[in-house]
Amino acid sequence: MRTILPSDLSHRDRHQLLLSGVSPRPIAFVTSVDAEGNVNLSPFSFYNAYASNPPIVAIGPAIAAKTGLAKHTWLNILATGECTISAVSYSMVHSMNLTSAAFASDVDEYAKAGFTKRPSVVVAPPSVAESPYTMECRLIENIELRRDIGGNGNLMLLEVVAFHVADTVMVNGRVDPRGMDLVGRMGDAYYTRTTELFEATQPPHIPIGMDELPYLIRTSTVLTGNELAQLAYVPVLPMLDGTFPQFEESFQADSIETELACERPQGALYVWLKNGNHEDRTTLHRIVQQYIRQGKIEEAWQTLLLE
Ligand SMILES: Cc1cc2nc3c(=O)[nH]c(=O)nc-3n(C[C@H](O)[C@H](O)[C@H](O)COP(=O)(O)O)c2cc1C
Repeated sequence: MRTILPSDLSHRDRHQLLLSGVSPRPIAFVTSVDAEGNVNLSPFSFYNAYASNPPIVAIGPAIAAKTGLAKHTWLNILATGECTISAVSYSMVHSMNLTSAAFASDVDEYAKAGFTKRPSVVVAPPSVAESPYTMECRLIENIELRRDIGGNGNLMLLEVVAFHVADTVMVNGRVDPRGMDLVGRMGDAYYTRTTELFEATQPPHIPIGMDELPYLIRTSTVLTGNELAQLAYVPVLPMLDGTFPQFEESFQADSIETELACERPQGALYVWLKNGNHEDRTTLHRIVQQYIRQGKIEEAWQTLLLE
């Protein structure tokens, strides 16, 4: 493990090192308007949400390190106190990238990148009609970040005064992340597309934690840290349920290996119980692993307790 002090790096290397670890970052596609009414559209990945009551987000338009010039977005929001933020879907990513070029302040990036303006309801700047999710925002505060030592960062705290969500991404009254297809900015010129989604519900109770897992489970050579953590979510150590496992009389299974290859942990368990080597903890843990991967934590625990 390498330890690197920020003061030992050039601005460029420090920037890249920081951003490769703070990653992936959401992208705020910010529309602002200057005093003459010129519309500006630019992406910012120094961006996140910080409160929901009231909803507050923040963006970080820097003073450009190379030129010393302030971003038009920053100047416009300071001057008018308003902007909109549009989320960036995969279908928008290259057009979004076009708008990040240093166009003059009277150039309309909507026209340059082929985006459509959707009028706002509360603030003056429009938002990107192609985006499935947009917010109208008002500036609360701008914090200049360590100008005393030559710092070039800014943190603009923005209160969301209106949300707009496309009907196409709403399922049962909630936003479906699959429909949004949002992208994130990573280190260097890398982006990520949010197509591989998985769920990890926050524990609604105090979990037992890894340290309370029985020794033979905690030291498993099969189960990964992520898998052990899912076992450790439970509020109390489960007890063996005498009725587990239950098989219909007609239940049939192939060999343990075939059942595991076909991702049928129940079949593998059936064979393991019938004629497996019960000292063989590795096979049992492979069965448990499949249950965990299928989200069947109850079955995983009961299988472990059979040991
Ligand atoms: C995906 C992406 C994210 C960016 N994030 C930031 C950022 O957080 N802060 C920043 O100062 N510049 C950022 N930039 C660069 C600005 O978008 C770029 O400097 C742009 O020209 C600013 O436009 P403006 O001067 O019209 O506001 C980013 C560029 C891209 C492509």
